[in-house]
Amino acid sequence: MNFELKTFDLADAAREKCDALIVLVNDDFKPGNDVLSTLLAQTLKAGDLETKAGKSLVLYHTSGIAGARVVLASIAAGSAKDVHKAVVSAVAAIKAPKVKKLTICFASLPEEAAVRAAVVAVAEASYVYTTTKSKPEGRVIQQVVVGLPNAAKFKTAFDRTLAAVLGIEYAKEWANRPANHATPTLLAGAARSLAKLAHIKCEILGPKEVAKLGMGAFMAVAQASEEPLRFIVLHYNGAAKSQAATVLIGKGLTFDSGGVSIKPAAEMDEMKFDMSGAASVLGVFRALAELQPAINVVGLIPSCENLLDGRSIKPGDVVTSMNGQTIEVLNTDAEGRLILCDALTYAERFKPRAVVDIATLTGACMIALGGVRSGLFSSNDPLAASLFAAGEISSDPCWRMPLDDDYAEGLKTSFADVANVAGRMGGAITAAKFLQRFADKYPWAHLDIAGTAWKSGLAKGATGRPVALLLQYLLAEEK
Ligand code: BES
Ligand code: MN
Ligand code: ZN
Repeated sequence: MNFELKTFDLADAAREKCDALIVLVNDDFKPGNDVLSTLLAQTLKAGDLETKAGKSLVLYHTSGIAGARVVLASIAAGSAKDVHKAVVSAVAAIKAPKVKKLTICFASLPEEAAVRAAVVAVAEASYVYTTTKSKPEGRVIQQVVVGLPNAAKFKTAFDRTLAAVLGIEYAKEWANRPANHATPTLLAGAARSLAKLAHIKCEILGPKEVAKLGMGAFMAVAQASEEPLRFIVLHYNGAAKSQAATVLIGKGLTFDSGGVSIKPAAEMDEMKFDMSGAASVLGVFRALAELQPAINVVGLIPSCENLLDGRSIKPGDVVTSMNGQTIEVLNTDAEGRLILCDALTYAERFKPRAVVDIATLTGACMIALGGVRSGLFSSNDPLAASLFAAGEISSDPCWRMPLDDDYAEGLKTSFADVANVAGRMGGAITAAKFLQRFADKYPWAHLDIAGTAWKSGLAKGATGRPVALLLQYLLAEEK
């Protein structure tokens, strides 16, 4: 999909040739003398367009307007949320196979957040997954013109949003692919192809190298699968070597059956999304390649399958992690923390300015926060504040959760330094407390995206979260 930013007012919008013109109308719209203004004023006066965000009116072949269809869409006060809602419903209203060229304009001067929301929403509403369909019907909308009275002012925000959209769609693509089309080896291939882009390098470690590093916890999770594990190391070098990198670690379980502590059959297919953290890291690198900011970023992706066979780890087994801590695996379904802990230790070598891990880690986090906000855990207040703020600005929000030491009580065991589970209570927090034991050498934060990385039900699929949050966070750190 191709986006273009143009300077124009409502009179220009009426002259723009396109298959559909979406006019976003805010509550305090002041009509001018042009044809669209007149149409809008009449429609509002007649009460045919409600002023609630998400309400719209589709008109065909309207005289004086070059666009074949016109959608008048209310955006209420014009907040990012309202614009997102309005654009998603307007695009849904014109899902005709002939709408290839779309123009979106604002009836009044928008806020920057509203412009960003409009771009993200068109991409989201028109996205179609096709990779494993035999006769794919792809995305209908091919070209989108965003018309604003003062386009120049929004150029930077617009370009950043386009990069974010590329990253979000890259993450969605990989997260949506079924496990047999997104094995650890194929994920590593995706990282390799990203390394063809400017300033990106990648290194792939296999079972031998990982064994040599002593990643006993990661290896234990992978050992029942025929698919060899991969440990992906990505570098984006946009700044001087002397500038400390931010490390992003993405959980890359290409399938999580639970292992011997097997999951129920219902909805087990959704565990192909258990590499959404990894996909978000790949998505961020895709966006970085586009924007070329002056920062350094390292991406680490431990990737494997959690299956079961004669070689499976068993409840009660004790494994030794890369930093020497022994772990009693009381539940083989708490595997994410086992692969992440070794990546957290590996991250020490970069002397990072911060490490953020991103993981579909716990069902408990879904219960706590639902699908709206990702769980944010950090013992570092400034880092937590930066990530929280990035989530608000990018409309990809998170919410900080506690990390009191009392929550770690349940991880105690007589048979190892730590157990990998601590009972049902506060499950998202106890998982974070487990990770924290391996992240004491640098400022660290953990994002539990179990509830936000994908949607269940009819519109089942990856959301591309939290690519927008992470990208916003990284760009805000650019000096
Ligand atoms: N990948 C799951 C977490 C998950 C569950 C994400 C459902 C999205 C939807 C993770 O590996 C897992 O199985 N966690 C267990 C931990 C428990 C055994 C302590 C869970 O949340 O049930
Ligand atoms: Mn699991
Ligand atoms: Zn998992």
